[in-house]
Amino acid sequence: MEVTALKSAVFDTPIPYPETVEAATAHKISLKDINVRFSSKQGVRSVLENVNLNINAGEFVCLVGPSGCGKSTLLNVIAGLHRADSGSALKDGKAITGPGPDRAVIFQEAALFPWLSAVQNVEFALKSSIRDKKARRAKALEYLGMVHLARFAASYPHELSGGMRQRVAIARALALNPDILLMDEPFAALDAQTRDILLIEVQRIWQETGKTIIFVTHNVLEAVALGDRVLCMGVRPGCIRQEITVALPRPRAVEEPETARLAKRIMTHLRSEIDKIVQEESDHAARELALAGDGDPDRLRHTTANTMGDGI
Ligand SMILES: Nc1ncnc2c1ncn2[C@@H]1O[C@H](COP(=O)(O)OP(=O)(O)OP(=O)(O)O)[C@@H](O)[C@H]1O
Ligand SMILES: [Mg+2]
Repeated sequence: MEVTALKSAVFDTPIPYPETVEAATAHKISLKDINVRFSSKQGVRSVLENVNLNINAGEFVCLVGPSGCGKSTLLNVIAGLHRADSGSALKDGKAITGPGPDRAVIFQEAALFPWLSAVQNVEFALKSSIRDKKARRAKALEYLGMVHLARFAASYPHELSGGMRQRVAIARALALNPDILLMDEPFAALDAQTRDILLIEVQRIWQETGKTIIFVTHNVLEAVALGDRVLCMGVRPGCIRQEITVALPRPRAVEEPETARLAKRIMTHLRSEIDKIVQEESDHAARELALAGDGDPDRLRHTTANTMGDGI
């Protein structure tokens, strides 16, 4: 088709090129020139700068980067929990204007209702889609079965281990039948063995359900084990610095030599971002120390506490 801007006879406004519309809707998520700034006492701070990212349906994408680089902020923009200051965030070609059941978020700490049992927690997510109580219970048990917790259906969150609670959270998120699972360091609080089991389980669930998954982690090994693509974010400005396609066979385990080799390469890249933060922090501290020498020690304490918040 000839690429010409068509004009609407009625409104005399240009209609987008059909090719452009197709290109935009072909991606499950499409972020273009996303900018996010936060204001604080220290002034306005740019956290994400001109982030561009396309994610295909059914893709498993991992985001890694030093603490404070904007991983959660980017996930929140996709979740509709935070609106970018500029740029466009599209899902299936439509603007993301707020949160929705099509995008389920799983956080570091499983946010389960403590007064509901495991199966009731999952049922909660099914309330609007299945009216019949028996059918709802059956479906909830099916989702608990997917995370191998059907036996613990009657247990309350405080009776479950951290890993089990996180599996209930995954079952509950799946029960919403979202298009996209947004996972923000879901295994960060777990011990290594539990995490390794869940890494295999998440890959299996992803393969069985065909969901699009966007997974934030500090752990590069975890990212390589899970992702079709690993996106490395950097700081100042917060943006995607490098994209690595992971073509290793699945299921992948963290202890496999190929996984470890690729993780090491990515880590080398991330190291320079981490060094950058360390350098900036120490330059900043040195400047503040000099200022404090001028007789204002409170100022030093205040600023150091804020910069430490970025951590690494
Ligand atoms: N609501 C907010 N108000 C002000 N600043 C914020 C807000 N949310 C995030 N920030 C700042 O934006 C930056 C990025 O935060 P974000 O939580 O996205 O980082 P992150 O990469 O997820 O870090 P971590 O790995 O530690 O979770 C940080 O410097 C943080 O202090
Ligand atoms: Mg975060």
